[in-house]
Amino acid sequence: MTSSDDPFQLPGSASATVLVTGAGSGIGFACVRRLAAAGHRVALVDRDAAALAAAVDACARAADGRAGAVSGHRADLTDPAAAAAAVAAALEAHGDLSGVVNAAGAVRGGTVVDTTDDDWRWNLDTNVSTAFYVCRAALPHLVGRGGGAVVNVASLTALRPIPDRAAYAAAKGAVISFTRQLALEYGPHGVTANTVVPGAIRTPLLAARFDREPAVEAELAGRIPLRRTGEPDEVAGLVQLLVTGGCGYLTGQTLTVDGGLSLV
Ligand SMILES: NC(=O)c1ccc[n+]([C@@H]2O[C@H](COP(=O)([O-])OP(=O)(O)OC[C@H]3O[C@@H](n4cnc5c(N)ncnc54)[C@H](O)[C@@H]3O)[C@@H](O)[C@H]2O)c1
Repeated sequence: MTSSDDPFQLPGSASATVLVTGAGSGIGFACVRRLAAAGHRVALVDRDAAALAAAVDACARAADGRAGAVSGHRADLTDPAAAAAAVAAALEAHGDLSGVVNAAGAVRGGTVVDTTDDDWRWNLDTNVSTAFYVCRAALPHLVGRGGGAVVNVASLTALRPIPDRAAYAAAKGAVISFTRQLALEYGPHGVTANTVVPGAIRTPLLAARFDREPAVEAELAGRIPLRRTGEPDEVAGLVQLLVTGGCGYLTGQTLTVDGGLSLV
């Protein structure tokens, strides 16, 4: 068997081609920058045009100007047609996709009683429907090529509730269940699917708050076994391993990257 006949070799090859949602900022951006620097091809998708353009530039620099290494596509992935178009654009740009990372997501907080119908739907649409629409569009290609890897980003809130996150926690819990379902249904086609669960990561939103209120970060860090918040690149390191086939026999798993916060 040559490496090109072996579906488990495909995502692990030096030329993995990975679509990453939410690539304009935070964890998604850390993933594409890391993948581009490691010699992979990346298709960036984000709804924020300015953030997307800056991220595409940064990835092109990380890829050292390699031709065809980086593409960008603006889309609001809560729209199923836009999600399908984003996958089609990535395939058009790169001619292949071996992996998908769904990092797009955001929070509208609230307790159960003060979560409006709109907030409920917004959290579900933004955090889990986006991943569903992208996977539904990408899976026929992954199956057709004999395998690939899906990584979906949830949140520790799904496993360890915190106040005022009713709809967000439900949406991120659904991400975990959806990913396990993917692993079961598409494992026979050589597709792995895993969930990465970040703890408190210093992405721009949290970093801005921590910089304004250092006591808040210090209090949080004091409760984390590693005694600090995490960096986006520390999540991206795990995502890279999973989406480029470095751990090709791992599927259906929920992996926390939280400095040990889930232990306490
Ligand atoms: N930062 C943390 O501590 C933390 C903790 C747990 C989980 N997470 C999860 O990690 C993921 C990344 O979070 P982050 O902190 O890097 O956030 P971020 O705000 O820095 O980046 C998220 C990106 O997703 C994009 N996005 C959001 N909704 C979109 C949509 N509908 N269509 C297309 N793009 C969309 C945004 O424009 C943004 O660029 C999210 O799913 C988040 O829920 C983050």
